[in-house]
Amino acid sequence: MQQKVISIQPETRPPEAKPPRYDGGPLADTRRRPMRDLRISVTDRCNFRCVYCMPREVFDANYKFLPHDALLSFEEIARLARVFVGLGVKKIRLTGGEPLLRKDLAKLVAMLAPLGAELTLTTNGSTLAKHARTLKDAGLDRVTVSLDSLDEATFRRMNDADFPVAKVLDGIAAAAAAGLAPVKINMVVKRGMNDGQILDMARHWRNSGQIVRFIEFMDVGSTNGWRMDDVVPSGAVVRIIGEHHPLEPLEPNYPGEVAGRWRYRDGGGEIGVISSVTQAFCGSCNRMRLSTEGALYTCLFAQQGHDLKALLRGGAGDERIRDQIAAVWRRRANRYSELRTAQTAGLPKVEMSYIGG
Ligand code: GTP
Ligand code: 5AD
Ligand code: SF4
Ligand code: SF4
Repeated sequence: MQQKVISIQPETRPPEAKPPRYDGGPLADTRRRPMRDLRISVTDRCNFRCVYCMPREVFDANYKFLPHDALLSFEEIARLARVFVGLGVKKIRLTGGEPLLRKDLAKLVAMLAPLGAELTLTTNGSTLAKHARTLKDAGLDRVTVSLDSLDEATFRRMNDADFPVAKVLDGIAAAAAAGLAPVKINMVVKRGMNDGQILDMARHWRNSGQIVRFIEFMDVGSTNGWRMDDVVPSGAVVRIIGEHHPLEPLEPNYPGEVAGRWRYRDGGGEIGVISSVTQAFCGSCNRMRLSTEGALYTCLFAQQGHDLKALLRGGAGDERIRDQIAAVWRRRANRYSELRTAQTAGLPKVEMSYIGG
């Protein structure tokens, strides 16, 4: 019997034959945004099937993940990262899929650490307890861990892999103990799923030294069935928590920070809200994304990437690669979240598990 084979890998534009030479000047896109942050996806696979990211009906046994030789090697990633740092990147985030599923990830961390950018990782925490110390020793600065609920039944329903809360909490504790602190904890809030647990989550991390961030459910990719009605606005999250534990706003740590910061007036620490739907932050978006197979994406909601792997494997020198990256950034005009409507939500877009959060 013929098997159903689903693949939703996106289109990739070939490299330009002759991009303009990079002149060494400040690198800004068409909306004057600098390139500051590089997010590198190291695998498109994940051991979770979060309902808002990799719905099991689509990412099932027949789903075609990338074959191993399509992935950039650690050497290729490190070479590109060096070029990016030379162009002004200050922070590198390793993502996935689930990045800790990539074998020997600490080796990559050790290759990236000497570049001098801040080095961070976003993980679902499932194997973090095992890896935290090695990652820290390899030179990782911080981690962000996804955790959508502290309620066992809700968490298992959301990760759809029957994964228990306690193991993620162990991973967070191990990361904090290893000095990967403060650990940021990401909770994607989906109405009717986990919005009843906002206050519990806030209280759990109050006075802990870690920072919980509440993320508005987004229409990334084309498979998660996003509807505006499922979004709980960050304003409501701040109200729910603030009624019990008064909050006041804080200034961003750096220009273009994704999360809005709030602190407890009684000194219990801070929380963050990520409001991509109700208060788009495209105006200061300084993020470039490198997919698992070496394509550049200038927006989380992009429909097309720019192939860098072909350049790498075709023998291009660093200067040629730098020219290509600079040309892609200088032409960048993305501002999807500012333009989002119910109609745009239905357009084909790259999946978050492929491009990285
Ligand atoms: P730190 O401040 O260093 O912790 O980094 P960060 O705020 O970028 O944290 P993180 O990578 O955990 O991003 C948090 C979440 O914000 C992601 O998982 C996404 O859901 C969302 N996000 C991050 N970058 C973007 C972006 O460029 N656009 C949109 N729309 N959402 C984003
Ligand atoms: N909306 C908002 N956040 C999402 N993430 C994944 N999919 C979505 C979505 N549809 C978040 C995860 C994780 C990070 C990688 O991205 O919770 O914290
Ligand atoms: Fe995996 Fe993270 Fe996507 Fe969940 S949100 S399915 S943990 S990549
Ligand atoms: Fe940046 Fe695109 Fe997100 Fe806007 S929607 S903040 S341009 S990644």
